[in-house]
Amino acid sequence: MHRIIVLDDIAQEGLDLLDAADGVEYEIRKKLPVDELRTALTQFDGAILRSGAKLTAEVLAGNKRLKAIVRAGVGTDNIDKAAATRQGIVVMNTPAGNTVSTAEHAFALMLALSRNIAPANQSLIEGRWDRKKYMGTQLAGKTLGIVGMGRIGREVASRAMAFDMTVIAYDPFLSDDQAAKLGLQRAATIEDLLPQIDYLTVHTPLTDETRGLIGKDCLAKLKPGVRVINAARGGIYDVDALVEGLNSGQIGGVALDVYEQEPCTDSPLFGMPGVVCTPHLGASTEEAQTQVAVEGVHLLLNFLQTGE
Ligand code: MLT
Repeated sequence: MHRIIVLDDIAQEGLDLLDAADGVEYEIRKKLPVDELRTALTQFDGAILRSGAKLTAEVLAGNKRLKAIVRAGVGTDNIDKAAATRQGIVVMNTPAGNTVSTAEHAFALMLALSRNIAPANQSLIEGRWDRKKYMGTQLAGKTLGIVGMGRIGREVASRAMAFDMTVIAYDPFLSDDQAAKLGLQRAATIEDLLPQIDYLTVHTPLTDETRGLIGKDCLAKLKPGVRVINAARGGIYDVDALVEGLNSGQIGGVALDVYEQEPCTDSPLFGMPGVVCTPHLGASTEEAQTQVAVEGVHLLLNFLQTGE
């Protein structure tokens, strides 16, 4: 019997697959404290999670039973992959399932910034009819800078082009040829990109290379008033530099869906004018959650049942 532990909420369609699988039993155990999590994991062959559970080296240490961990989603930064590998545990993710939802959320944030959706809504429900105060700006005719042209970056780019924006992208793996095929301009460096754009969005994982990638020096290269968006991972922008940029007017707006520490209910950016924030909702659509749960459960079952 293969035993699977489900550590975060996953869509019912994924649980239905587990129910229907032969020779498999599973338990849902969410929000376990570190000690309990460590002990629980020694009783299972496979684990599936989203971004809530943190599988650190400490939690995986000494585990002789666990064979595979599946992240129902893209980012595996909540799993210590080096520690897992040392223990012979395979880590897998489902990179495609939430691409469109995350790209749409980045776009929603860009539109929300441009049209002052959040403060205008707040003002209206507080009884004011502030039509003059919330003058916005069109996306059409503006230039979007994208850092990171993986699946999500590309979906954002195609949506931006449909909105008549010019897109300039930076990605160390993007060739001139690929850029031309995608109908966008390639920047050779982030520094080249920054002075040319009206909006900036990042779509990279959080790694040692991308932590603090967009800091004070980079932000100083932006045209005054640029709006910046992050629906990728907290930590890519330096938050203090964003606050400083907003205060000086160098930055015209900030939209964040992700934070260096999550859950995050306290940030110097919360409540600042020109800031709109959501609690890591990029992949929170019915479609994305169904896809990542189904894909993740298939990966796990396949690995446990066939070893592949
Ligand atoms: C991901 O990495 O898949 C997304 O950020 C969404 C999530 O954390 O579930």
